[in-house]
Amino acid sequence: MVKNILVTGAKGQLGCELNELYAQYPGFNFISTDIDSLDLTKKEDVRRCLDGNRVDYVINCAAYTAVDKAEDDVELCYQINRDAVRNLAEAAAGKAKIIHISTDYVFDGTAGVPYKETVATRPQSVYGKSKEEGERVLMMLAPGSSIIIRTAWLYSPFGNNFVKTMIRLGKERESLNVVNDQAGSPTCAADLAKAILDIIAFCEETQSFAPGIYHYSNEGTTTWFDFTKEIFRLAGIKNCRVNPVPASEYPTKATRPMYSVLDKTKIKKTFALSIPEWDDSLKKCLFNQKIYLNNDKF
Ligand SMILES: NC(=O)c1ccc[n+]([C@@H]2O[C@H](COP(=O)([O-])OP(=O)(O)OC[C@H]3O[C@@H](n4cnc5c(N)ncnc54)[C@H](OP(=O)(O)O)[C@@H]3O)[C@@H](O)[C@H]2O)c1
Repeated sequence: MVKNILVTGAKGQLGCELNELYAQYPGFNFISTDIDSLDLTKKEDVRRCLDGNRVDYVINCAAYTAVDKAEDDVELCYQINRDAVRNLAEAAAGKAKIIHISTDYVFDGTAGVPYKETVATRPQSVYGKSKEEGERVLMMLAPGSSIIIRTAWLYSPFGNNFVKTMIRLGKERESLNVVNDQAGSPTCAADLAKAILDIIAFCEETQSFAPGIYHYSNEGTTTWFDFTKEIFRLAGIKNCRVNPVPASEYPTKATRPMYSVLDKTKIKKTFALSIPEWDDSLKKCLFNQKIYLNNDKF
């Protein structure tokens, strides 16, 4: 039987990449919504949506993701990243399973080895704290029917992200200072979107569901500086010099983790996933999207 999947926040980066994949999963019927059609902070609307549609899975891509702005916009950030998750969990109870996306910013960044799901969280920003609260609410209200996937450094041809910003700045400027002492793993949103749909397909095939927290990013580790150099190399940007600087010389309103590499062993093992290396995926994303490069979408 066809499975109905409600996608929230579908006009964001991850939502758009899911949309690109719909045709490859004929066993799934997608109901795409964003704030204009389903505002998750409106509890009654969320309930009506889950009552009025036979939904098997919810993929929650909706979030408040403006990390620095969140430091001043605390209430709205919590409304979307925590309270809306509560609305979803309550409305989906006994009806639908939830795949919810969280972030590496729940960690303080002091680890020297990749973060496993069992490491205690200690977010350093309003955004990180609100996402941690969202996780907590979901694990409290729907522990048996929810999968939380923490991801990091997400990019795509859609919306706002580091790759697009660097390509724009690289075309405009002669030099750029980029942080070289924060390490992590970029995540191609297309890879994460595919992993999410493959996880649902795996659950359906095996008639199993392994709830809990999982980590997903692309494989490998880099710094923002080395990431930028690779972006420029692949995008053919030669006239902009990239200077490595410590994070202390590039102050931002929100504190970011110095190290946020995620250990992906659990998600790979549980759902039989293989994860591409970050530089292979970056190449694929930029070359597949040549049309976007030419159209200045990147
Ligand atoms: N971007 C990253 O680097 C990154 C890193 C780690 C984890 N994540 C997580 O990954 C997930 C997907 O991120 P993303 O980059 O795809 O986010 P995004 O591009 O910012 O998309 C989020 C979408 O949610 C929508 N939205 C906001 N408030 C809503 C509401 N009340 N009801 C329904 N929809 C609402 C947004 O609409 P508006 O644009 O109109 O507000 C937007 O379309 C998020 O959970 C995020 O926390 C992201």
